[in-house]
Amino acid sequence: TTRLVVLVSGGGSNLAALLARHDDPAYGARVVGVVTDRPDAGALDLAQEAGVPTAVVVPGDFEDRPAWNRGVAEAIAVFSPDLVVLAGFMRILSPVVVDRFSIVNTHPALLPSFPGAHGVRDALAYGVKVTGCTVHVVDAGVDTGPILAQAAVPVLDDDDESTLHERIKVAERSLLVETVGRAAREGLAVEEGRARIG
Ligand code: GAR
Repeated sequence: TTRLVVLVSGGGSNLAALLARHDDPAYGARVVGVVTDRPDAGALDLAQEAGVPTAVVVPGDFEDRPAWNRGVAEAIAVFSPDLVVLAGFMRILSPVVVDRFSIVNTHPALLPSFPGAHGVRDALAYGVKVTGCTVHVVDAGVDTGPILAQAAVPVLDDDDESTLHERIKVAERSLLVETVGRAAREGLAVEEGRARIG
């Protein structure tokens, strides 16, 4: 079984979707640790309820950004993961983390459109009629790594950021669970800038 470490900053609905599947041996992946930059992240409660160990690595507790990145890398390494999943983790990780582990991220837009911390708001502000979500391999850039899977979500006339994000999150949960499971069972490879499962 593939050992997953999930990094979270928020409510953890994507983490919850992974936890809902991870007891099933056929799924092929199990969440063995959750790491957060926010002691108040709702996702921490979900992990604790599921009996998954957690680590909190707050930037303010470290001397500088490089020291925090080393702290994150060590917190992840304790769990010996095969795959790291960024599920609503809202900080940029340096190569100290990114080059050490195999990492995938879920983003609430159709990359390469609308990268960054406000993918839903930016898509709405631009006026696109279709947006969605992307699961991609993390590289040193911000939301630039090779794409594994995407799902489209229509933008409705009366959407605001919150209604659109909620609709994206429904698609996102299934896409993430499905993609992580396939990567766990079949393996993940990056060649010539393209990501491939199997
Ligand atoms: C998700 O929509 C995820 O794609 C987004 O935060 C949300 C977290 O929700 N991530 C980013 O915007 C990263 N730039 P959750 O805490 O309920 O899983």
